[in-house]
Amino acid sequence: MKPPKAFPENTKFQNLKKFQASPILYMKEAAAKYGSPVDLNLPIGKFALISDPDQAQHVLANNHGNYTKSNGYKQVALVLGNGLLTAEGDEWHQNRKMLQSSFHKTELRKLLPAVWQTGAQYISGLSSHDDLRLDTEMNGLTLTILLNSLIHSSDEEILTKMSDHVNFGQEFIVNRIRNPFKWPLWIPTQNHRRYHAMMADSNELIQRTIDERSAIYGSDIEDLLAVLLSKLDAEKDFIQIRDEILTFLVAGHETSSLGMTWTLHLLAHHPEIQDRLYEEVAELVTLEDLDLMNFSNLKYTGQVIKESMRMYPPIWNIVRKAKANDQLGACEIEAGYQLMNSIYELHHHADYWDDPDTFNPDRFETYDFKHKFQYLPFGGGPRFCIGNNFAIYEMTLLLVQFVRSFQLEPLSPKSIGFNPLLTLRPDQSVSVRLKCRK
Ligand code: HEM
Repeated sequence: MKPPKAFPENTKFQNLKKFQASPILYMKEAAAKYGSPVDLNLPIGKFALISDPDQAQHVLANNHGNYTKSNGYKQVALVLGNGLLTAEGDEWHQNRKMLQSSFHKTELRKLLPAVWQTGAQYISGLSSHDDLRLDTEMNGLTLTILLNSLIHSSDEEILTKMSDHVNFGQEFIVNRIRNPFKWPLWIPTQNHRRYHAMMADSNELIQRTIDERSAIYGSDIEDLLAVLLSKLDAEKDFIQIRDEILTFLVAGHETSSLGMTWTLHLLAHHPEIQDRLYEEVAELVTLEDLDLMNFSNLKYTGQVIKESMRMYPPIWNIVRKAKANDQLGACEIEAGYQLMNSIYELHHHADYWDDPDTFNPDRFETYDFKHKFQYLPFGGGPRFCIGNNFAIYEMTLLLVQFVRSFQLEPLSPKSIGFNPLLTLRPDQSVSVRLKCRK
C-alpha cells in the first residue's frame, strides 16, 4: 500500500506560505487534484487532508482508539488544562460521563429563561437604522449568555474580568498555534506575563464565585457551576472545576458567536429567506410560545441554522494524530500523521450536496443524507460536541428575537474571505443595517 499523494509539487516552504495565506483554498485544490486522503506536503510535520465521509467516519468514530488530538491541543491545554476538550483516555471518558447528563435537553431548558432574557435585553437596546458590526457584537452577546449560564454571578466585576480573560485566552492559544517559534512560558515576555496573570486571576474569580455560592444556603441557581459543585468537591477538585469552566467558556463562545455572525450575514443577503423566517417567528413573543422541546413551530428556523452551519461551519476542521499505522482508502497512514478532517470540505463536497455553494435552507426540509458523516458541524464519534443542544437553543432564541424585531440589510460584501485557525473567522468585519419590523 502507498502513502497519500503529496500536493502540490512545490518546495515545502513555498507550500507553507500558500497554505498559511488560505488553508481553505489550498485544501480545496489538494482535494480536487488528488482526492482523499492527500498529503499537504508541509514542512511543519506530516499532515494529510481528509474530505471523504467514509474516511472521516473511520478516523473520528470507527477507529477512534487509534487517534489522539493533534499537537495544537498542547497549546489549547495551556489555558484549558485538562478540561473535556483537551483530556484524553480514561480521564476524558470519566468526565464526559459525569457531565453528559447536564447537557440533556430537559436539563438545558432550565438555562433558557436567562438566555432569552439576555437576548431580549440586548435587542431592546438596538434601534432602526443602527449599523451592527456582527462579529464584535455577537462576540459580546454570546459571551454574556455563556457566563450567565455557566457561572451565574451577581458580581459584575467577576463577569467583566472573566469576559476579558476568555477573549485574551482565545487570542493567546491562536497566536501560540500560529507561531512556529514559541518561547518557553517562563521567559517573561509581556504576553507571557499577561498569560500568567490571567490564569491566576481566573483561579481567584472562580474561587470567589464558588464562595459566593456556598454563602447562599440552599442556592437555587441552576447553572453549570451548580452541576459541577454537585458532583465534585469544591476544595479537592478545584483545578478540575476551573478547567471545565474555562473549557466550556472557550469551546462554547467563539463557535456560537460565529454561528450567529454567519447566519445573520447570510440572512441580510437573502431577504426572501428572511421574510419566510419572519412569517414563522412573527407571533412568537414569549419563551413559552416557542415549544422548544420539539421545535414543531420552528421548523424553518432550524433549517436556516443547519444550512448556515453547512455553508460556514464554525469549527471547520478536526485534526487527529495517528498512534499506529492505519489504512485509509487505498493509502497507508503512518503513525504520527496528523489527519485534517475538513468539515468545510465535507460540507461543500459536490458528490454529496447539490449546488453546494448556494445558501438554501430548503435542502434540510427533505434532505436525504447519502452519508452520516457528510454533515458534521458538531463533529462526530465519541468526541462529538457536548454543547450542541445548548448552541442550537441559544442560536434559535437569538434568531427568533432578531428576525421578529428587525429586517437586516447587508453592509458587507456577500462573499467574505476567511481567517481560519481553530474556528472559521471572517477576514474582515461583517456588518448589517437594522430596520424595525413593526
Ligand atoms: C455553534 C456552536 C458550536 C459548534 C459549531 C461546536 C462544534 C464542536 C465540534 C466540531 C467539536 C468536536 C471537536 C473534536 O472532535 O475535536 C466540539 C467539541 C466540544 N464542544 Fe462544541 N461547538 C459549539 C458550541 C459549544 C458549546 C455552547 C459548548 C459548551 C457550553 C461546547 C463545548 C464543547 C466541548 C466541551 C467539546 C469537547 C467534547 C469532548 O471532547 O468530549 N460547544 N464542538
